Amino acid sequence: RLSEEDIMTHYAGYLAQAQEIASTRVVLLALVNIPLLAIVFNVLWQLIIPRSKTDPPLVFHWIPFVGSAIEYGNDPMKFFISSQAKYGNVFTFILLGRKVTVCLGPKGNNFVLGGKSTVLNAEDAYTHLTTPVFGRDVVYDVPNEVFMEQKKFVKVGLSTDNFRAYVGMIEQEVEEFLANDPSFSIYQQNDINPWGKFESVKVLSEITILTASRTLQGSEVRDSITTNFAQTYTDLDGGFTPINFMFPNLPLESYRKRDRAQKKMSDFYVEFIKKRRAGGGSGQHDMIAALINQKYRSGKSLRDHEIAHIMIALLMAGQHTSSATGSWALLHLADREDVAEALYQEQVKHFGINGQPGKFRPLTYEDLRDLPVLDSVIRETLRVHPPIHSIMRAVRDDVPIPPTLATPSSKSGSGTYIVRKGHVVLASPLFAQMDPKIWKNASEWEPTRWNDPEGVAMSALKEYTDENGEKIDFGFGAVSKGTDSPYQPFGAGRHRCIGEQFAYLQLGTILSTLVRKLEFKIPTGVPAHNYHTMITMPKTPRDIHYRRRHFD
Ligand code: HEM
Repeated sequence: RLSEEDIMTHYAGYLAQAQEIASTRVVLLALVNIPLLAIVFNVLWQLIIPRSKTDPPLVFHWIPFVGSAIEYGNDPMKFFISSQAKYGNVFTFILLGRKVTVCLGPKGNNFVLGGKSTVLNAEDAYTHLTTPVFGRDVVYDVPNEVFMEQKKFVKVGLSTDNFRAYVGMIEQEVEEFLANDPSFSIYQQNDINPWGKFESVKVLSEITILTASRTLQGSEVRDSITTNFAQTYTDLDGGFTPINFMFPNLPLESYRKRDRAQKKMSDFYVEFIKKRRAGGGSGQHDMIAALINQKYRSGKSLRDHEIAHIMIALLMAGQHTSSATGSWALLHLADREDVAEALYQEQVKHFGINGQPGKFRPLTYEDLRDLPVLDSVIRETLRVHPPIHSIMRAVRDDVPIPPTLATPSSKSGSGTYIVRKGHVVLASPLFAQMDPKIWKNASEWEPTRWNDPEGVAMSALKEYTDENGEKIDFGFGAVSKGTDSPYQPFGAGRHRCIGEQFAYLQLGTILSTLVRKLEFKIPTGVPAHNYHTMITMPKTPRDIHYRRRHFD
């Protein structure tokens, strides 16, 4: 017979077991239901709770926190087009917990890029991504007025004198690459007939870093590029991805590699700079030579680590932007035999030697400024494939949206939209550059649109670069205002790119040298955009077929 105590113990066991099962069920139910509830609340909140009339419309999304991150991240253009159709030129979307207000069209660009840095601020938007990669005390790790002075110092190095020296160096680097790199083994066989192929982005990335280091970065970087510098660069570059933008610090190996590479790269440069200061490297045309003697308005000289970090920033700013543009240009040339032929004939006309087939005189800086077909190829490539599709600023103070850009009146009474402090505003030059209301056959890569001096393209360019138009000095020399133009591949306003002329020179020399020697074709057609990288890249496969030009 069981005693009373045994029965109690028995039941206590059952009870504990029952409680355990029940609590596991509760946990399981909660695990299933909490996200469901969050989704339900999020949807109800969007549908039922009236929004303030001054808040821009919110893009509908199912999952809280994630918001529209997936649609935006996969294809920002598609996302902008479909959101514009529903909400107009100004709308807010949730990007992993952040509220991002998109301002579309030339007026949207003007508002975001032309804004005061005390209100629409670049440092707050970018520093978490850039400072771990560039290093301290430069660019977005310093107040805006200090960065503007640093841009002025860099402009000293981007002088016409230096550019004259660079053209021959770039031409030589490309020729050596063709003669030695395994991607061009068929070319190296000296046989005219067979076709070879190369991976466009791989080849253009290598040519870009070789030519940038031979010119801007200087001989020390060029000499180290095939040794330990290359791996350090790769590790540092691994810290410049959309994941790093969204999550600045995660306990992952790529983040640790980024930090180690930043320190190593910074030490490399500091060592080069010390040697230069000690007397080596006089007569150099590179950026270290230009930065070494610069002084802030306060009278303080640039410190070694600041020069080092500016050099890293320039390397990162110019590398993917130029290599992506070069890759897209070559992909299109391979697809459009007529344009490639026009480009080649332009070279023959300007540089051919006494009609001798395949013989050219070397390029010069002055020549490069007067090659309309080459210019139109680069301009059109930057119109259809600007490397940076979204430009962001953090909102430091509540800011009204100009009524000429958008008002709530059309949908919900009169008034003005206000973007709240703490939000982010976003401009997309890509959107304006591909707008079919502005550009004829907007989505087609058609360099001839730049031939008509009165056409849309040239008037947009004139507005962007107008020598005689409105100019503003933000602290790094007067620049064309250009914030209203529908063509802004290099941004506009105080954060406008200072590498534009260098990029044209670098790309122009690379494309000229390649087109003089090679014919291209692309059986698979020009690939679509891959938006999963910081800079818009071509999707794979992106091989270009080539063969040595023959002259008979
Ligand atoms: C800024 C594009 C090449 C250095 C910018 C901006 C864009 C841009 C869109 C504005 C970013 C913003 O407003 O947030 C390009 C393109 C390039 C190119 C399309 C090549 C095809 C270069 C090169 C260098 C460079 C070669 C260096 C030599 C800079 C710098 C800024 C900048 C220093 C200023 C950033 C700021 O003020 O916040 N670039 N860039 N870029 N770029 Fe470039």
